[in-house]
Amino acid sequence: MAMIANKCSDATVTVVDLNENRIADWNSDKLPVYEPGLLEIVQSSRGKNLFFSSDVKKNVRDAEVIFISVNTPTKEYGSGAGQAADLRYVESCARMIAEVGGGNKIVVEKSTVPVRTAQMVEEILSASGNEFTYQIISNPEFLAEGTAMADLENPDRVLIGGESTPEGQDAVQKIVNLYATWVDLEKIITTNLWSSELSKLTANAFLAQRISSINAISALCEETGANVDEVARAIGSDSRIGHKFLKSSVGFGGSCFQKDILNLSYLCRHFGLPEVAHYWDQVVIMNDFQKERFVQRILNKMFNTVSGKKIAVLGYAFKKDTNDYRESPAIAVCKRLLEEKALIRLYDPQVSEGAIRESLQMEEGNHFDSFTFYDSIEDACHESNAIALLTEWEEFKDLDFQRIYQSMKKPAYIFDGRNLLNLRELEKIGFRAFGIGKA
Ligand code: UGA
Repeated sequence: MAMIANKCSDATVTVVDLNENRIADWNSDKLPVYEPGLLEIVQSSRGKNLFFSSDVKKNVRDAEVIFISVNTPTKEYGSGAGQAADLRYVESCARMIAEVGGGNKIVVEKSTVPVRTAQMVEEILSASGNEFTYQIISNPEFLAEGTAMADLENPDRVLIGGESTPEGQDAVQKIVNLYATWVDLEKIITTNLWSSELSKLTANAFLAQRISSINAISALCEETGANVDEVARAIGSDSRIGHKFLKSSVGFGGSCFQKDILNLSYLCRHFGLPEVAHYWDQVVIMNDFQKERFVQRILNKMFNTVSGKKIAVLGYAFKKDTNDYRESPAIAVCKRLLEEKALIRLYDPQVSEGAIRESLQMEEGNHFDSFTFYDSIEDACHESNAIALLTEWEEFKDLDFQRIYQSMKKPAYIFDGRNLLNLRELEKIGFRAFGIGKA
């Protein structure tokens, strides 16, 4: 929304949220999310044509176009628990839009939703009994965290789905015009509603599938002497395959990939396609396998036990340049290391100690004292038996590993879960160094 305000000076954009503290943060210089470049964009438009308000109903009543951008987490209860998307926030937005009235409106689904959600939104709005008309548009978001500003400024494509009626096409055109202020028209794709909704889940499923595919090959590399980075380079040079999203890792994380694949496979089962569901389930199964394999490798190389050993964990965010740790592979790895009675010494430049302890469900008695948070990498590594690198933060590339090695217990191990470091250089220093997909 900040980018739309920034690019479309004629539009007035008001971001609303019932949570007053969150709105206060958006109105301050300490934004509730860490995203490089976001503060500058917000500052350039805030108070001019970009506003943040907790007066939800008034602003929705006054708006011509409403973007529903609420959470659609995996459902945790009842039918579809653990797989289906929980659409209660989308539904309550639709009900509130119907209730406040105020004029004809375009309602845009920005949240990631299962295919045919627009039908539910449409039914709620048309049952409102008021005299206004509503056009539903699907406009999924494809930005990735950490590069959000560049992705928004120069997107590969913008996808806009709408109904084929004249009113529907009119609404599509209005949203096209909004984006066309800064995005080339040939990058703006228009489709029907269901194609647009389904394309979002499909894009994430394909991206995650590539990572699981290369991670599956990484397991075979470790057994055979092949090097997964070399294999990725070799296959990526085929223009039909391409180089992107072939970086083998300890596993993919983030709030979207797993959730969207679970949702996709739930939809397939719902529509009577269990074989298709099973196909996509494998992407998540392979990702879980990769995280566990990383832990098993640590155990195997460290004489089959890490009990009482100090492991410096570098990085907790699900990828660099974000403080987001949702579904981060670090969560699963740390939990397993704690189960194995390791002593974790963790450093991450953006994720706070409180957030980490909460995600590891640490309370008094539950491994509480086996975990220490450090503000300095060198302190975290001091007297440790091993380093496990779990997020590819740039600062990890240029560490003084000679000094770190000297301060560690011997033999000193390093497990690079992101293939970020030069293992041969580390071995010259004296480390026993292991990456992903390398013998
Ligand atoms: C992802 C998609 O890339 C976006 O297009 C989409 O809009 C977004 O989900 C969403 O649905 O909101 P994001 O989760 O922010 O974006 O991050 P990615 O860059 O896709 O990375 C996801 C995970 O895959 C990270 O843990 C990353 O480290 C891992 N990854 C990525 C790999 O292990 N290898 C790769 O080659 C690429």
